Amino acid sequence: MKKGLFITLEGGEGAGKSTQMAFVQHRLQDRLQAVGKNLQVTREPGGTALGEQIRELLLDHRQTVMNSDTELLLMFAARAQHLAELICPTLAAGDWVLCDRFTDATYAYQGGGRGIALNRIAALEDWVQGELRPDLTLLLDLPVEVGMARAGERGELDRFEREQQAFFERVRQTYRERAVAEPGRYRIIDAAQDIEQVQAQIDIALTPLLAELTS
Ligand code: TMP
Repeated sequence: MKKGLFITLEGGEGAGKSTQMAFVQHRLQDRLQAVGKNLQVTREPGGTALGEQIRELLLDHRQTVMNSDTELLLMFAARAQHLAELICPTLAAGDWVLCDRFTDATYAYQGGGRGIALNRIAALEDWVQGELRPDLTLLLDLPVEVGMARAGERGELDRFEREQQAFFERVRQTYRERAVAEPGRYRIIDAAQDIEQVQAQIDIALTPLLAELTS
């Protein structure tokens, strides 16, 4: 039985997701502690010992022959473990979960990017998650070429970062379509702006959740 809140952060390559994860954590942690709740910060693929091993397989650029369906199923295998071991127990205890990527990334990367039919992803989503969906999803959105230039400065590229611009254009497009289709859950954050403006947008998105905490 879910009682806590489930917040996810999404975005394409180089959108500043790590920086903004730390910012959201900082914004939420003290406020939650003040009312006796914890914030569990985690990521996908990963978040558990087994999930992190699956992540290594998924990101390893030496895995050059991974089939798209294999990739999709590994994402959901890691997610099933993550839900059972960490996310569901945390939410059931009334604590909050902040997750760096979740199933929206599967729709964007395996659906948009790889071209897997979205209804097949939806079937796995229902199977693995039941009715669980994030309460709030912050989408850090920026033009693909800007993000790729930022990500390219990071040294060795993983299996996804080696994809071409057209792949990331489809990823971005899928994220944006999902955000527009579900405005109640998503907030689109313009991540091309400077960091103070990005964080001001995130603050606006978090305000109603924090207000509920003290009401
Ligand atoms: P990260 O670099 O944001 O930690 O994410 C790792 C990569 O995994 C990133 O390139 C996006 C990709 N990914 C998917 O393709 N599908 C998914 O379901 C998830 C969670 C991540």
